[in-house]
Amino acid sequence: MIASMRVSRGLVLALGIPALLILTAASTFAASSPSPSSSGSQASGAPALPGDPTRGETLYAQNCATCHGAGLEGGIGATLNPIEPLPGVKNPLDPQFLINIIANGRDPQPGDPKSTKMPAKGGNSGLTEQDVKDLAAYIIVANRTGEPPLSPGELAKRTILWVSIGIIAMVFITYLLSTYNMRWIARRAAARRR
Ligand code: HEC
Repeated sequence: MIASMRVSRGLVLALGIPALLILTAASTFAASSPSPSSSGSQASGAPALPGDPTRGETLYAQNCATCHGAGLEGGIGATLNPIEPLPGVKNPLDPQFLINIIANGRDPQPGDPKSTKMPAKGGNSGLTEQDVKDLAAYIIVANRTGEPPLSPGELAKRTILWVSIGIIAMVFITYLLSTYNMRWIARRAAARRR
């Protein structure tokens, strides 16, 4: 009777603690998932596209790939995916910044020997305002679909999740071993009494 009560209390602990841990881990995870998109600093939180990325892709191949690479990987010009902010630029995926630099180009920055000239409209004055917007949209979409690196916060949350799963597994294994051991001790005691 007493033994069975002890076992059931052990069962409550063995199932209750992991359940609590799972709930904690799940709630941190659930709370974390909407945060990257709502923070706005990442590509996924960017405002609506300024133009048509499919048209932009064609225009890019014709006018920009010579300097920025066929796959946006950079060359004479800056890498466009993943885009790196030029000195003094806060958010290089801001549509307004992209439209402005594509339409007007950018002079080499004084004091930066690596900086070279980005010609207005890639040197093709025939590009329209809409073309420029489509090019900006293409660059934004390309940066969105690229796997973004994990932010420190995201990394911490994943670590918490996996550590919790590890603890739960260990508690469960300990419970299984201890019940097995208790049954074995009881069997030994019964055999001795006989
Ligand atoms: C003659 C070479 C050349 C061509 C052609 C060219 N670019 Fe550039 N582009 C550059 C250089 C060089 C820079 C970096 C400027 C700097 O360092 O200040 C740059 C910078 C940029 C940036 C800013 C990158 C960042 O990290 O913020 C964008 C966006 C861009 N180019 C888009 C385009 C698009 C779109 C086209 C086609 C219409 C194009 N470029 C054509 C040379 C070029």
